[in-house]
Amino acid sequence: MQPTIRKSIDINPKAHLIFMINNLDLLNDFKFNDDEIKYINDKVQKKKSCIHLNRLSQQVFIRYTVKEGDDENEKIRLDANSVYKKLKSEDIDQVSIIDLTGNKAQTIAITEGLALSAYQFIQYKTEKKDSEYALKNIAVASPAVTGCELNELNNVIEAVYATRDLVNQPVDKLNAVQLADYVIEKADNYGYKARVFNKSKIEALKFGGLLGVNRGSIDPPTFTTIEWKPENAINEKPYVLVGKGVVFDTGGINLKTPPGSLDTMKCDMGGAASVIGTMMAISKNQLPIHIIGLVPATDNRPGQNAFVPGDILTMHNGLTVEILNTDAEGRLILADALSYANKYEPELVIDLATLTGSAVMAIGEYGTVSMGTADDKEFESLEKHGYATHERIVKFPFWSDYDELIKSDIADIKNLGGREGGSITAGKFLSKFTDYPWIHLDIAGPSFHLKESSYRGKGGSGVGVRLLYHFFKSKTLK
Ligand code: BES
Ligand code: ZN
Ligand code: ZN
Repeated sequence: MQPTIRKSIDINPKAHLIFMINNLDLLNDFKFNDDEIKYINDKVQKKKSCIHLNRLSQQVFIRYTVKEGDDENEKIRLDANSVYKKLKSEDIDQVSIIDLTGNKAQTIAITEGLALSAYQFIQYKTEKKDSEYALKNIAVASPAVTGCELNELNNVIEAVYATRDLVNQPVDKLNAVQLADYVIEKADNYGYKARVFNKSKIEALKFGGLLGVNRGSIDPPTFTTIEWKPENAINEKPYVLVGKGVVFDTGGINLKTPPGSLDTMKCDMGGAASVIGTMMAISKNQLPIHIIGLVPATDNRPGQNAFVPGDILTMHNGLTVEILNTDAEGRLILADALSYANKYEPELVIDLATLTGSAVMAIGEYGTVSMGTADDKEFESLEKHGYATHERIVKFPFWSDYDELIKSDIADIKNLGGREGGSITAGKFLSKFTDYPWIHLDIAGPSFHLKESSYRGKGGSGVGVRLLYHFFKSKTLK
């Protein structure tokens, strides 16, 4: 369970406290003794941004800064993670934040950092001790942040938790059908409308990519649409999100062989999970925007009827694709979803996918590789919200030279580009199925952390949800 975040009017002086300050005099009203004041002063001199006073029955933290902006907000989230660890080591499940600076962004950052740090995936542990001492309540006393804003934050964090849960579920608990069922199950609670296309509908729609990848599987594929269309939507043409839903990627007949490369491949539906999470955050907060999420899903396995190199698939839009590597499967299922998206005449389409190892090689787990055909303004806005949420994106070149690399001798295109520029040729492949302004986000790096990464946690990070929520929210404020 995520901690409950609520606004508090009066401060219980005995609670475990986090003070947000930009001036030491602000602490004068709070009965710190001389030793404590000396200790705090000393730590500030030594440029410590987060000071901890252990009063045994009470833990007090002082977060001091005179700086502002995206970098400082991220430092606050990281400090919140250190605070969380200390609280957890003391089995503390309640904390109060006292904002004495009136800085909304910083108060939200500390709250968000704490709440995101408290995520645990312990559903399959039979010993429940961990959940007993999880952080349950965060009270926020701030003149700058309203109850509504905290409620909004709560909803976004709930969506990030849901996204992480989906990514962390192994394929024996979450196959393509179970993923689709999950979306349907949550529809009433969130208010979006969802539909699932089963295998015969997918066949009728001639989704050759999705069906091709699914051929080695014993489970059927699914294609889920999620729509949020409020009456007060600001846009005429819908926004569309598309998420890669490979519930497990073995590589197929081109079985993944490098040691360890299979271990994390339950994360290959990270794009789908982030699309579902973003739709949850947007609908629960009732953003006045018309938006549709599309989730093609299947596992990718070797099997007696599995597709093999040399096969030629005919896609939903009629293009033929020569398969040269069955491990380049994400682009095949996304291609059908992207061409299906044409029918909505969308304003903008954004796809999210754990698409290439090449994106990880290029920038590691620290950011998302982006490219596409949308207006510079859209990329700039996404980049800006990337820094604000610390879900940073970097735009890769999309020159026409790369188109040459996916030409096939015997079909329209091939699903493999060669060793160089692998994330870009994957993007180029996708572009053949888009007829609208489009942004591709390759989240293979940041989607899943092998080692704990501060408040982003270990395992599924939920990357993309905070980024896209704020990107779309900003459109409603113009
Ligand atoms: N799911 C993988 C990409 C991936 C790698 C995601 C690491 C997360 C972490 C994708 O389907 C894949 O296997 N891509 C291949 C493509 C290649 C065969 C052209 C890759 O990147 O190696
Ligand atoms: Zn693959
Ligand atoms: Zn994959």
